[in-house]
Amino acid sequence: MFKFGRGSKRTVGLDIGSSSIKVVELDHSGETSRLVRFGRCGLLPEAIVDGEVMDRDVVVDTIAELFEVNEIASRHVVSAVSGRAVIVKKIQMDMMTDEQAREAIHWEAEQHIPFDIDDVSLDFQVLNRESSPDKMDVLLVAAKKEMLEARSELMRAAGLTPTVIDVESFAVQNAYERNHEYPEGNVTLLLNVGCFVTNVNIVKDGIPYFTRDLSFAGNAILEAIQKDLGVDYDEANEILENPGEERLDDLQSIVGLVGEELAVGIEKSLSYLRASGEADHVDRICLSGGSSFAPGLRESIEKRQGSPVEVANPFRNLVWEEDLFGSEDPDLLGPHYMVAAGLALRTEGE
Ligand SMILES: Nc1ncnc2c1ncn2[C@@H]1O[C@H](COP(=O)(O)OP(=O)(O)OP(=O)(O)O)[C@@H](O)[C@H]1O
Ligand SMILES: [Mg+2]
Repeated sequence: MFKFGRGSKRTVGLDIGSSSIKVVELDHSGETSRLVRFGRCGLLPEAIVDGEVMDRDVVVDTIAELFEVNEIASRHVVSAVSGRAVIVKKIQMDMMTDEQAREAIHWEAEQHIPFDIDDVSLDFQVLNRESSPDKMDVLLVAAKKEMLEARSELMRAAGLTPTVIDVESFAVQNAYERNHEYPEGNVTLLLNVGCFVTNVNIVKDGIPYFTRDLSFAGNAILEAIQKDLGVDYDEANEILENPGEERLDDLQSIVGLVGEELAVGIEKSLSYLRASGEADHVDRICLSGGSSFAPGLRESIEKRQGSPVEVANPFRNLVWEEDLFGSEDPDLLGPHYMVAAGLALRTEGE
């Protein structure tokens, strides 16, 4: 979306999350993109809170370490932003050429974006010129310049060159479309549940119909575990990731309740979509992000939403050297790398 330079045959996707930083390096010189390297490095909970960088030095050091440990060769990275500083909106504009739209978008955006227009970077994509004779559907993207500059500065401080800064939800969509089969006309709800942010993107035939980030994700599960089981943050993390037989029932009921709250946010997104007349149902849900591993979350969303939920694997259509994963299962690692892989899967010119 927001481009700064040129790409190459190797691409690196960098996902700077509140709980961990993830990186994926791909090589596009063959017929099929090859997964060259990937890795993630956890952050202390106070380093990035709710998407906001609180301890810049720790984040910069962690990014640099991630590149070093995983021997990432390229220093040119594609990254993404999410949350409150980003707005994605489908709007209608008078029929015009792309060039004319580029001129007009500033004035259009003023009516649709609740920020001072001089404080945001704008991008757009004409989605459909056929919906009515004199109007066209346009996807408008606005991101706070301050946020984009801070992200770029962070990456430069870690010795990297930012080439593109995308929107997380679009990276999730890209990873989904490049790795999962979906019948024409299917409405898919992409749900990337992280630590503080859940990226919601409802897509149909490659078009994002509704894109919004909810400020509700895995951190709510950790808080509920701490409160309900009377444990501290580290213990809650341990219980969440390795519950064991004796804690599993407690954990599943906690996750189920958080899933209910998440469902309320999802329902709101769906009601916007219904009100716009663009879709009245969802055919399938694709779940990703670290919290997709929370025991019972998938089942709770499936039950509540009534649509089948599949767990994403952004590595499905990639190739790699035999020993890259060692003893680990790519299907079980994939959901963590949905954003990073979706970013690395962008090729020059997209
Ligand atoms: N194995 C696991 N089982 C259950 N939950 C997990 C597991 N691994 C990670 N999580 C949870 O996933 C969340 C982190 O997910 P993710 O890495 O997608 O978020 P992030 O990108 O760091 O954060 P955000 O995008 O919200 O800023 C944490 O809340 C963590 O507790
Ligand atoms: Mg994330």
